[in-house]
Amino acid sequence: MSESKQTKFITAGRDKKWTNGVVNPAVQRASTVVFDTVAEKHHATVNRANKTLFYGRRGTTTHFAFQDAMTEIEGGAGCALYPCGTAAISNAILSFVETGDHVLMVDTCYEPTRDFCDKILKKLGVETTYYPPTIGEGIRELVKPNTKVLFLESPGSITMEVQDVPTLARIAHEQDIIVMLDNTWAAGVNFSPFDHGVDISIQAATKYIVGHSDVMLGTAVANEKCWDQLREQSYLMGQCVSPDDAYLGLRGIRTLDVRLRQHAENSLRVAQWLQSRPEVDHVRHPALNTCPGNEFFERDFTGGNGLFSFVLKTSYPRATTALLDGMKHFSMGYSWGGFESLILANEPKSFNSLRTVANPNFEGTLIRVHIGLENVDDLIADLEAGLARYNVLLAEKKVTL
Ligand SMILES: Cc1ncc(COP(=O)(O)O)c(C=O)c1O
Repeated sequence: MSESKQTKFITAGRDKKWTNGVVNPAVQRASTVVFDTVAEKHHATVNRANKTLFYGRRGTTTHFAFQDAMTEIEGGAGCALYPCGTAAISNAILSFVETGDHVLMVDTCYEPTRDFCDKILKKLGVETTYYPPTIGEGIRELVKPNTKVLFLESPGSITMEVQDVPTLARIAHEQDIIVMLDNTWAAGVNFSPFDHGVDISIQAATKYIVGHSDVMLGTAVANEKCWDQLREQSYLMGQCVSPDDAYLGLRGIRTLDVRLRQHAENSLRVAQWLQSRPEVDHVRHPALNTCPGNEFFERDFTGGNGLFSFVLKTSYPRATTALLDGMKHFSMGYSWGGFESLILANEPKSFNSLRTVANPNFEGTLIRVHIGLENVDDLIADLEAGLARYNVLLAEKKVTL
């Protein structure tokens, strides 16, 4: 009998080989693995790529448990670990390209992903073409004979566009292009990458997997076709993580599903409240039809989380500062996925450098929020007070909405 996904979050990775009969694996710290006999050493060497203790960089039982758990919840053939999400993205791409190749990158990617393409791939002679997140079938026209990787991030960073992953993946596979997805938003819970044609599902485990804003960690789960190459090339680039961090990633998985459901419930309440506010032009929450690609969210995702954006009707940075500076429960921080609420503002002109082919052309300030696990009425009251401060400054400037 196949178990439900909900149960998997509790059972994944808990093989007795790793846990030694207790609930959680020990944190096994090791650089050196020692062998008593030539036969043991030979066995470890031959099986070193296959979760056998060999040398610290190849991982210990703590890593193996976390890797198994990630593979079980995402559904691929194996999981490579990285010291952060950015390392997972850059190493996944580097594992599959060489000089003269071409990468198709979604324009709404996480900013350091864009910088990696523009500064590192370019230096290596790998060309990047950015494509709009909503391109769909149009991607066919951008494919070149040397295109090796199609990279997606759905929903997109900050502006939250949801992509038509199956359509893009189908077209890529017609040309043998590897499909990689930054799947951090769905967190291995709400979108099944391999059922939608993805070859490598990447996460900043720093976010919801760890879930407590206290660890940097990255994962890339690959299908059978890509697993050997991803694992071996990442290994050669020295990618590994501490067992303590792997342990915390694994521990996060146990409550991941429950946490996400509460984040999603809270965030939808806040998003719906924001929709009723006169200061707000529109809300970019994937579960609402005012978010680009909402139809793909409805079709392909099984739930949401706490991260979304909303766009104000005007851009008046002094008023936005008044809103942000007095928040009680929302702090400003360049991350998300922890238990706490966060808030950041982007003025429209900032998208001129963040986007090259899909500038969203807002009139007003975009505010991205991460809705945490606080009481949702407290969060709404905090935003309401912030908008009151905002309105005082708009009134002084005689701006009417
Ligand atoms: C969508 C997305 N991908 C990747 C990353 C990078 O993760 P890390 O900070 O662990 O390098 C982030 C970080 O904010 C992110 O939001």
